[in-house]
Order: sequence, then C-alpha cells, then structure tokens
Amino acid sequence: MCGIMGYVGPRPAVNVLVGGLRRLEYRGYDSAGIALGTTDGIHLVKRAGPLRVLSEELEQNPPPPAAIGIGHTRWTTHGGVSDRNAHPHLDCREQIAVVHNGIIENASELRLELESRGHELRSETDSELVAHLLEEVEGDLLHRLQVVAKRCEGAYALLAFDLAEGLHMCAVRRTSPIAIGFNEAEVFVASGAIALAPWLERCIYLDDGEIADLRPGRADVFRLADLAPIEKAFHEISVSGDLPDAGRHRHFYMKELYEQPSAWRSVMQGRLDDSGNVDLADTGLTHEALRAVQRLLFLAMGSSLHASQMAVERLQQFAQIPAEAILASEFRDTRTFLEPGTLAVAVSQSGETIDTLAALRHARDLGATVLGLVNAPSSTIARESDFVFDLRAGTEISVASTKAFTTQAVALELLVSALAAAHGRVDTTGRLAALRAAPAIAEDFLMEFRLPEDLIARCAAAPGVIFLGRGQDLSLAREGSLKLKELSYIWSEAFAAGELKHGPLALVDSRVPVIVCATDQKHAPKLRNSLAEASARGAYGVSVGADLHATIHLGLPMHDSLAAYLLGALPLQLLAVSVAEARGCSIDQPRNLAKSVTVE
Ligand code: M6R
Repeated sequence: MCGIMGYVGPRPAVNVLVGGLRRLEYRGYDSAGIALGTTDGIHLVKRAGPLRVLSEELEQNPPPPAAIGIGHTRWTTHGGVSDRNAHPHLDCREQIAVVHNGIIENASELRLELESRGHELRSETDSELVAHLLEEVEGDLLHRLQVVAKRCEGAYALLAFDLAEGLHMCAVRRTSPIAIGFNEAEVFVASGAIALAPWLERCIYLDDGEIADLRPGRADVFRLADLAPIEKAFHEISVSGDLPDAGRHRHFYMKELYEQPSAWRSVMQGRLDDSGNVDLADTGLTHEALRAVQRLLFLAMGSSLHASQMAVERLQQFAQIPAEAILASEFRDTRTFLEPGTLAVAVSQSGETIDTLAALRHARDLGATVLGLVNAPSSTIARESDFVFDLRAGTEISVASTKAFTTQAVALELLVSALAAAHGRVDTTGRLAALRAAPAIAEDFLMEFRLPEDLIARCAAAPGVIFLGRGQDLSLAREGSLKLKELSYIWSEAFAAGELKHGPLALVDSRVPVIVCATDQKHAPKLRNSLAEASARGAYGVSVGADLHATIHLGLPMHDSLAAYLLGALPLQLLAVSVAEARGCSIDQPRNLAKSVTVE
C-alpha cells in the first residue's frame, strides 16, 4: 500500500526520497511523487505509473537543491490513478506539503466544509484535505497537525512540512506504520524500516496516537491527545542497505519460491533438536505458558490464514486442543467473548496487516493472551503481542507469498508439537524427523521438477480453475487457488471435495481444470471419487500428492503428511507463475494488489 518517505538534512533530498521510495515499491502502488522545500517555494513533481516514470522526469528536469522533502508511492483509494491525485498535496498558498497513507473516513464532510470556506481543491483525494486544514490552523506545525489529526477520522499516517518553518517536519500515526531514524545532522521518516536501511542502523516506530516533531539530529515524540512527551525505544534495522535484488531469478517471486528450503531450516534452527524436541523459549512460550493454553484462535488474512487453517487440523489431530482459524477482518464484528485460557495467534508475514492487527487488539480486549507469528519482529503486531514467534524467512518482496506461507506452516507445526508435548499428548518425534528432512528433499525436488506444458496451456486458456481438498488439503487447495488468481488473474476457487456435488459440480465442463490436492494419503480414496465425478463431466483432472488416477499426476517425493503438504505447495506455486507468465502478467506486483495491506 502507500509508501511514505521524508528527509531533512545536507544530502540532496531528491536522492534520498527516490532511493527510499524504490525500497518501498514492493508494497504495491500506482503513482509516485515528491515535494521539495526550496528557496523558491515547494517544487512538486508527481506522476501516475511506476516510480521509473517519476525518476526519468527528475533526470530530464533536475529539481533545484533542497534540504527538506517528502515523497510518496500511492495505492489508490479515493479518486482514480492520475498525476493530479498522486501525492504530495499542497495547500492553497503552496506553502504546506502533505503525504498520507490510509483512509480519512469523514473526507466528504471535510471537503464540503473546506469548499464552503473557499479552498481550491485540486484533486479527488481525501489526503489533500489535510494540507488545506493545516492552512487554516494557527500555531507551529506540531500543534496544527495535532488539531488536524484529531479532526480526521479513520486509520492513517501523515507526514507534512511547512516552508515557513524551515528544516522541520511532523508525522502522526493512527494505525498506519511510521518508522523514524536520525543521526547528528539528518532525520529520515518512512512507512517501513526497509526504506531507512541504506542510511541508518536503528530506528524508532511511532505507535498509534503518537505525533513526532522532526528536525535534523532529533525526533521528539508526543502523545497525540495532549502532547505529553514519550520516550521511544530504538530498534535495530535488520535488513540490508542494498537494494533488494532478484539475483539470477527472473523476479522476486521465483527467488523466494526457491528460498523455501533454507527458510524452513532457518525457522527450525535452535527450536528443533536432533531428537525431535521443540524448544520455543526464544518466543517467550515457556512450558508453563504452553500448559496454560486451553484453546487457540488463529487470526489472519490470505496465505497466512491458509497456514493457520493447516495448523488447526494438526492441533486437533496431534495435540487434541480446540482451535479455530478466523478471517481477521470478520473477527471484530462477530465475537463478543472468548473462553478463558485462549491463546490468540496473529499470523502475519508483514506484521502490519490492519485487519489482523485490529483483530489482535479485539482478542486482547476480550481477555486473550496474544502470540504474534510474524516475519518482521519489529512490526506493530510483534510489538503489541505478549509472545513473538519470528519466522526468520527473510524479506519477502513479491506481493504473492511463497516462502512466508510454507515457513508459517513449519513454524505452526513447531507450535503444535510444543503444545502437544506440554499437554502430555502424542509423541511427535517421528513426524518431526520428516520435517527436518524436508528442506534437502525439497531442494532436489525443485531442481528436477518440471510442470507438464499441457497443464500450463490448459490453465492459461481456462475460463476458471477449481481446486479441491479435504482436511489439511483444503487449506492447500485454497492457497493454490489464491496463488493462481493473484498472479494470472484467472478466476479460480477452492472447495472442500465433499462440497462438489452440492453445487460447484455445475461449473465443471471440459474447459475447466480440476486440481485435487491430496498430500494427506488418508483422504486419497474419497478424493479419488471426487475427481472421478469431475472427470466424468469432462474435467481435465490433476492430482497433487497421492495418485488419484488423474489426467495429470504431480507426485511428491515424501509421504509424511506435513512434509508432503510443504512439498505440495511447490508445484502449485510454480503452476501459478507459469500460467501468469504464459498470459504476460506482472509477477511481483500483480494488478490492484499491495504487499502490506494497511487500510481496511
Ligand atoms: O502480511 P500478511 O501475512 O498479514 O498478509 C496477509 C495477506 O494480505 C497475504 O497473505 C496476501 O493474501 C498475499 N498476497 C498472498 O499471496
């Protein structure tokens, strides 16, 4: 989603802004812009399209030198994709510049008010309103932004400067993330620490309801409500300062897909010993903490939800602990109480997904203890959790998740085993031996595996693709379907195999591939029947895992249910990218999607 970047200091601000925005590109956006504070006023350049378009414009027409500036990549919410709607936005006098991430929910009322008072609004965005509201308030920028932020309802982050105040800018956070770093002569602001990494080793994160006063060499943080000062802790910026690079791969999606075996090793490192014992001490989950868990509630979206659904299956089977996985966006509206002893597990690659964060807060308010399972240990979800399980999968750039999804499945299996052991349930040692062996076998599999060309061509030409599964394979079917639709824009849907005859079978004809996930051998007989029913209606049948006598069978080199699940994800991920490439789709940044979903 939108990326914010700000800089005050002696370097040419334009270089820092464009450099930072480039590192935020992976979040997904559709236009970009910068505003520089110069001696001749605010120099504004905004372009619809990729950041490349803005950079080329800046190369052809170099902007005047500036020691202060803000930049933005916009993911459209209010108003179409255009130069005009791109950020930053200015007030009527062109003295104040603002960038914004999030949604201002009372924008219509504010717009009417501002227009009735004679403001000239130049865009259709909610964001521009902030610049005009700031224009109307008296006092220094910090006080003015405090007043304006209190008038704006919704979830957002704002960054602004006023030419009249020199080398000074202010940022405020209500839900959308803001990271700030500084050294003796400079101050940097961004939507994520990844954008600060080339220049800084540590940063602070604004929490909700905080406002920051930023000048070269300092960042003073206050409570938005009353401007009471707040001491902030510094966090190490653990990502490299080099621009992320897909290396020998065609794109980040493929790079990350191939990184899966090493990500699985990394999440197991120090947590699973050779005898199969699991130790989650680094997460804070001691034996006593695990013993106290009476039920689990997984809160997540997208691929993270699918990994959670897999964990629910495993928990019921191996730990006999009640568990459910809920779409985080539905949780707040549907739950008013939780059972005592509930551990809410917020599963999120980014650790910033707003729906998951809001669900976590609601679960905490209802009395749950919270475990954050994230790939970003300094993220908001991690900071607001009682326990933090760091996924250690390495930065995931591609919007469509690969390594984070399967590594979540590994991490959750460790959690299942730790809970089973703490509650004196089954001996899980044998199963975990297969888990330890999975990375090496997956590496060989990835080297040798080739998808049949006919399968790729059939899917690329299909009006729709159906995925089926049972038990753990239903979550894998959902993940396969999500990958295919995200990357190739082909309509697809996953169903529980038992549901087929109750309606979805009407969709099946000879043009519709039916892909059956069968990584858990115990469901093979019933899945074979489902596939036979679809094939009898002309479907092009595909099986992944157990041999179901399909037209195309994608066999796997491991039969242990968890290891097969992890390996089974690989052909589905490869199928999605192969079909997308055959259709000429953008792989790392699919249309309309964002990596980190920070608006509801
Ligand atoms: O960062 P999160 O894991 O919280 O993100 C959740 C979903 O937005 C994410 O999994 C999304 O569905 C991916 N694009 C899936 O490939």
